Amino acid sequence: MMDVRDVVVEYGRRAAAVRAVDGVSLSVAPGESLALIGPSGCGKSSLLFAMAGLVRPTEGTISVNGEALTRPRREIALILQNAGLLPWKTVWQNANLSLLLGKEYPRVTARAVLDELGLGEVRNRYPSELSEGMKRRVGVARALSTSPNVMLMDEPLASLDTLTKERIQDLFLRLWKRHAFALVLVTHDIEEAAFLGQRVAVLSDRPAKTKEVVENPAMGELNYRDTAAFAETAQRLRAALER
Ligand SMILES: Nc1ncnc2c1ncn2[C@@H]1O[C@H](COP(=O)(O)OP(=O)(O)OP(=O)(O)O)[C@@H](O)[C@H]1O
Ligand SMILES: [Mg+2]
Repeated sequence: MMDVRDVVVEYGRRAAAVRAVDGVSLSVAPGESLALIGPSGCGKSSLLFAMAGLVRPTEGTISVNGEALTRPRREIALILQNAGLLPWKTVWQNANLSLLLGKEYPRVTARAVLDELGLGEVRNRYPSELSEGMKRRVGVARALSTSPNVMLMDEPLASLDTLTKERIQDLFLRLWKRHAFALVLVTHDIEEAAFLGQRVAVLSDRPAKTKEVVENPAMGELNYRDTAAFAETAQRLRAALER
């Protein structure tokens, strides 16, 4: 269980301080999914980085299973906004970066993850030889390589075409169900939030506050996009964002 209590994130000091997150509280239980949606620049990444243990909240607390989060932890994976691939490393090396950095030799499970993501055939290619969609999937493979309990995604599919996006959203749904991690997905895409979030927290303009939490219990099947419940959730999200 990850618990975010009254978290404030500020950059800089005193008069020059920029407040990015303004007293957000939320929690994610094991195996749950939560989407965070909000306008550009509102503080989404700041909040997610705090949940990754990379940014220390100015006020408030973040705890994992009752223990204060003070630094990055192996069981919490973060997928960055641009996938964060190293151009001089192959797909396989990028996917296993944490293991390589730990000087621990990657295990066979890593190959299974690449196959699961449809990257087995391109494992020896470099990022410049991949499509955008493949690059994003390498970012996912890297995050999965440590078998995380919590998967944090920062706009993982931004600027992909609609069909590629939906195909990878389908993949995320299958991975979430199969690997049973808690998913926290930051997005500014209403459909993506409605497809992948069991709950969707709608954030305000900067500094981010929770405007509304929309429950979306009917999500979880690949055909959810074709249902009335999906359209209704998307409509509620749009209304909350516009308020
Ligand atoms: N390291 C930093 N130092 C100073 N200010 C920062 C830093 N990181 C972010 N900010 C500021 O905090 C605010 C929120 O930024 P953040 O990246 O969290 O928003 P976001 O919602 O993720 O934006 P986007 O939709 O563009 O990804 C912005 O005003 C930004 O300029
Ligand atoms: Mg961001």
